[in-house]
Amino acid sequence: MEEKIKEIRAEIEEKIGSFDTSGKLYEFRKKFLDNKEGAISQLMKGMRDVPKEERPQFGKIVNEVKEWATARFDEMEERVKAKELERRNADEAIDVTMPGVVSPEGALHPDTMVINDLIDIFTSMGFEIFEGTEIENDYYNFTALNTPKDHPARDMQDTFYVSDEFLLRTQTSAGQIHVMENKKPPIKIRSPGKVFRPADDATHSPMFTQMEGLVVDKGISVCDLQGMLDTFSARIFGEGVKTRLRPSYFPFTEPSVEVDVSCFACGGKGCKLCKGTGWIEVLGAGIVNRHVLENCGIDPEEYSGFAFGMGVERIAMLKYGINNIKALFESDTRVAEQFKD
Ligand code: DAH
Repeated sequence: MEEKIKEIRAEIEEKIGSFDTSGKLYEFRKKFLDNKEGAISQLMKGMRDVPKEERPQFGKIVNEVKEWATARFDEMEERVKAKELERRNADEAIDVTMPGVVSPEGALHPDTMVINDLIDIFTSMGFEIFEGTEIENDYYNFTALNTPKDHPARDMQDTFYVSDEFLLRTQTSAGQIHVMENKKPPIKIRSPGKVFRPADDATHSPMFTQMEGLVVDKGISVCDLQGMLDTFSARIFGEGVKTRLRPSYFPFTEPSVEVDVSCFACGGKGCKLCKGTGWIEVLGAGIVNRHVLENCGIDPEEYSGFAFGMGVERIAMLKYGINNIKALFESDTRVAEQFKD
């Protein structure tokens, strides 16, 4: 037994200092002090074979080694744990003198800002938002809008055809038909979205953004249109901006008008922006043509309405002084950054 105890002590002394984690040290401790399997606990079991008179002495010796081992392991555990903590603190240390990582802040695209403004203005007047689809068929984009095939007004809008029947919508006006087919008056919607036409210069892009408006109810007249336009113009371009209606032609409205706003840069005196006229053209509008109402199953004797459509890029260019539409589509973040709020 003496021999065995010596071996145990020697093994513990030899290896106890070699563990760098408390987990490994604990495994080593179990080898000796585990209640069942531990080598020291096993020694205790040998008590049965010891003659009675030698048992007290035997027990004393085993207890001594047990106490010694427990104290040794406790002390070592404390040391290893302190080292572990030191290592963890070192790993997690933050160098407060290091320069921070600057994450660049994004900015909204001018189109998005205009659309958000328009949505705010018009939802506050009770308009709902309808989003149509970019691929339309000929019927919704033209025929139902009182522009049947071979109607001369088709020449006003060159068109990208996807097939004989389908096309990339040339105007968000197509949304008017979907809304009127699916909803009974009163109708009050605005419909933003991308539209497509083969045109490409400083103020035209093959893809651009429009926002359509449609109001249908009993007794709607040009006065309602003009009143709404005045409110809209003052809110988007600034207090004091007035509107003026000029006769125009669109197949889906009768009468049709072109809407100008008084120049918000010079107050109407005449400047570079308004080309000396004091007025800036911003949108097309009119009283919904009775054929369009009929095409959607709405009785023109009972209901009337007005419609209006505006180009979002045009408004963004006017508002933010951008002189080439390309700047809005080149994905150069410096463009958006200039107009950050
Ligand atoms: N759809 C027309 C265009 O793209 C714009 C327009 C004019 C829309 C008059 C309307 C309207 O709703 O009444 O040129």
